[in-house]
Amino acid sequence: MTSDSATAFAPASIGNVGVGFDVLGLAISGAGDRVTVQRREAVGIEVRSICTPTGDDVPDLSKDAGKNTASIAAASLWQSQKAPGGLIIDIEKGVPLQSGMGSSAASAVAATVAANALLEEPLSFAALLDHAIEGEAFASGGRHADNVAPSLLGGLVVCPPGIDAVRLETHSTVSSVLVHPELRVNTAESRAGLSDTVTREQWIRQQGLLAAFVTAVFMGNIPLMRHSLKDLIIEPQRAGSVPCFAAVKQAALDSGAIGCSLSGSGPSIFALIENERAETVASVMVEACRAEGIDCQRWISPLSSPGAVLED
Ligand code: HSE
Repeated sequence: MTSDSATAFAPASIGNVGVGFDVLGLAISGAGDRVTVQRREAVGIEVRSICTPTGDDVPDLSKDAGKNTASIAAASLWQSQKAPGGLIIDIEKGVPLQSGMGSSAASAVAATVAANALLEEPLSFAALLDHAIEGEAFASGGRHADNVAPSLLGGLVVCPPGIDAVRLETHSTVSSVLVHPELRVNTAESRAGLSDTVTREQWIRQQGLLAAFVTAVFMGNIPLMRHSLKDLIIEPQRAGSVPCFAAVKQAALDSGAIGCSLSGSGPSIFALIENERAETVASVMVEACRAEGIDCQRWISPLSSPGAVLED
């Protein structure tokens, strides 16, 4: 007999990791969403509550089960497995909304992992990815896994469309720093504003950078990471929507960051940095952001930051 309720936690994440638009993502530590799913006899899904970790209501997110990433993802799993009855969902939002930290993905992943625990025969985590993507697609307007895959599997994940996501082996000498300026960017709108065309020259250069970056991660080759962690195509189109971006990036690079770019569609900004410089780089990024008149929060995580966990 399976239990009647389950709770799962799923971490925030860095979409694109600068160099791999839509196909590379990285989990972070210290921020995430927690979703409790309770079995009910009636068919269908109810989103009962959406609160902050301190218990405040989150009025900006819809409790309409057809418009919430957690319920859409859980419904996709539940229906695919022809599970009986329905679910009541309570969401604790620890990831700031429209932050570029994979907020919608974290809810979708946590709901999927919790609902999976209520199935007679739970699926593997890897098999949950497609259901989590259903939720993410509603929020962002695109079927990309670069937030849901690291949030589910942890670490640095390569997730090309149509191919199983792969978590990369990483070396323990590098950390990520994520700075979240108190701004909001709507991912669907940001994606809609991107150009659909690239030149052959851009395509060759960017795919070379991605291949070099993944190779550098495998080798633990910091100079090659430094040369390759660059976004020549998407970042220039989005940088203007985050007023502090140029200053924060310059401060990170001046302080020794391996690379720095927008996290997902922004406004968050991430840098990769050798562990011993991580606190320093985080401090200069925060200072640069505040010097632009924008307050911010920051997180430092290992590249091997864990993915989603079932909590009970
Ligand atoms: N790859 C997505 C984008 C991530 O950049 O639009 C959104 O968080």
